[in-house]
Amino acid sequence: MDQDRERSGGNCCSCCLSFIFTAGLTSLFLWLSLRANKPKCSIQNFYVPALNKTLNSRDNTTLNFMVRCDNPNKDQGIYYDDVHLTISNTNNTTIANYTVPKFYQGHKKKAKKPGQVLPLNNQTVLRAVLPNGSAVFRMDLKTQVRFKIIFWKTKRERIEVGADVEVNGNGTKAQKKGIKMKKSDSSSFSRSSFPICVLMNLLVFFAIR
Ligand SMILES: *[C@@H]1O[C@H](CO)[C@@H](O)[C@H](O)[C@H]1NC(C)=O
Ligand SMILES: *[C@@H]1O[C@H](CO)[C@@H](O)[C@H](O)[C@H]1NC(C)=O
Ligand SMILES: *[C@@H]1O[C@H](CO)[C@@H](O)[C@H](O)[C@H]1NC(C)=O
Ligand SMILES: *[C@@H]1O[C@H](CO)[C@@H](O)[C@H](O)[C@H]1NC(C)=O
Ligand SMILES: *[C@@H]1O[C@H](CO)[C@@H](O)[C@H](O)[C@H]1NC(C)=O
Ligand SMILES: *[C@@H]1O[C@H](CO)[C@@H](O)[C@H](O)[C@H]1NC(C)=O
Ligand SMILES: *[C@@H]1O[C@H](CO)[C@@H](O)[C@H](O)[C@H]1NC(C)=O
Ligand SMILES: *[C@@H]1O[C@H](CO)[C@@H](O)[C@H](O)[C@H]1NC(C)=O
Repeated sequence: MDQDRERSGGNCCSCCLSFIFTAGLTSLFLWLSLRANKPKCSIQNFYVPALNKTLNSRDNTTLNFMVRCDNPNKDQGIYYDDVHLTISNTNNTTIANYTVPKFYQGHKKKAKKPGQVLPLNNQTVLRAVLPNGSAVFRMDLKTQVRFKIIFWKTKRERIEVGADVEVNGNGTKAQKKGIKMKKSDSSSFSRSSFPICVLMNLLVFFAIR
């Protein structure tokens, strides 16, 4: 009898443990399948006719560019708010602002957004040229996104990335490949606490039962 009771006690405990284990696994699985990654943005083209030496004219100081944002998620769409682009020189002076109107991006889609903008002051473009003949600009992107998960939308998440672009004597981006835009300063880390929250919630829920 004593042995029986011990065994049943052990059974209950292992049953409870396996319950917690399954609950943990389930929530981890849920989190993995529902979690959304932020879009990855890059600078694909950058052309300043005024800096094209073969064109030999400094009149056309327009900044022509193309930014691409990729949705890395295979199950989530992305609603972008207006995307604010700021082009500045290495001295931190704003040269031009450009806004891409808000848009929606489906699963695994790439959004290519070309733009053309006149500088606030054309001298800032011409003065950006370094003694070695190339010029360096900085492009910053700021927006907020909401993820579409099946049929609901998450709350807004801030995106602030940027990169330097080197422009050569042809007036174009010196680097052949696209330039990844990276987080400039510390951003929110609220999302990383999400899986732990879910786990704790589910564990507590099952423990109470
Ligand atoms: C630079 O100007 C030349 C002469 O007009 C033109 O042929 C060339 O395509 C321009 N470069 C770029 C990258 O557009
Ligand atoms: C720059 O802008 C000023 C005033 O808008 C204009 O007078 C001048 O011709 C422009 N210079 C070039 C090189 O485009
Ligand atoms: C300046 O150059 C851009 C890019 O080549 C072109 O789209 C635009 O029409 C030009 N603007 C003028 C005023 O020539
Ligand atoms: C550029 O300006 C921003 C905001 O005004 C400032 O936080 C940053 O330190 C400046 N960077 C440089 C290199 O001056
Ligand atoms: C350009 O955008 C920056 C950052 O959003 C802002 O501080 C600045 O006032 C804007 N400048 C113009 C001329 O719109
Ligand atoms: C940056 O600022 C320094 C000092 O204020 C100045 O000498 C330099 O010409 C500026 N560079 C650009 C690209 O505006
Ligand atoms: C020109 O100088 C800048 C700043 O020192 C550097 O980043 C860039 O790589 C140079 N470009 C070339 C073509 O040497
Ligand atoms: C301009 O483009 C040509 C052809 O793409 C290339 O051979 C040349 O090196 C470029 N010039 C500069 C200054 O990068």
